[in-house]
Amino acid sequence: MVDKWVPVLFSIVEEGQLISRAEVIEVEIAHLYQIYKVCGICNVFTFPLFRNQGYGNLVVEAATNYILRSDADIGILFCDPKLELFYASKGWEVFNNSITRIGTPDNYKPYSNNRMMLFVSEKGKNGRSTFTHQPMYIKHIW
Ligand SMILES: CC(C)(COP(=O)(O)OP(=O)(O)OC[C@H]1O[C@@H](n2cnc3c(N)ncnc32)[C@H](O)[C@@H]1OP(=O)(O)O)[C@@H](O)C(=O)NCCC(=O)NCCS
Repeated sequence: MVDKWVPVLFSIVEEGQLISRAEVIEVEIAHLYQIYKVCGICNVFTFPLFRNQGYGNLVVEAATNYILRSDADIGILFCDPKLELFYASKGWEVFNNSITRIGTPDNYKPYSNNRMMLFVSEKGKNGRSTFTHQPMYIKHIW
């Protein structure tokens, strides 16, 4: 799988007005001698006038269902702690004490945003515990 930084876009538009959106990108990550296909959710946004009316829930649910039906091994998103419940209600698990680093084991920067994960394939599910205990390296932030 080639990293796909051209995202799949989930959006709600009414009468030409963009109300809410979320993106799914695809990347590969190497983690403890395994290569995992990863779908990431990013750029989740509802225009302020339309917030707290359920639109964010709809776009994130659609993006999550897309990932669950894809050939990804895992889903990963990074968010502010106050949004954990928002994502957890769609099946995302909080990996608060897990370490994320940008780069490689030889050359990296720490990344402090909260990580949430979704385990999709058997391979992903089998690797679940390794994501708790071992630092995870990503090439880019999303
Ligand atoms: C986060 C965001 C996308 C939510 O969109 P929304 O359309 O208002 O979402 P919903 O109306 O579907 O609300 C979803 C739930 O999340 C909660 N929520 C939304 N924003 C929240 C916030 N900033 N803090 C705490 N809870 C929040 C709502 O209270 C709601 O809870 P409920 O389902 O129990 O009622 C929107 O607030 C936004 O665009 N924020 C700025 C960008 C951002 O932070 N994006 C997320 C990046 S990870």
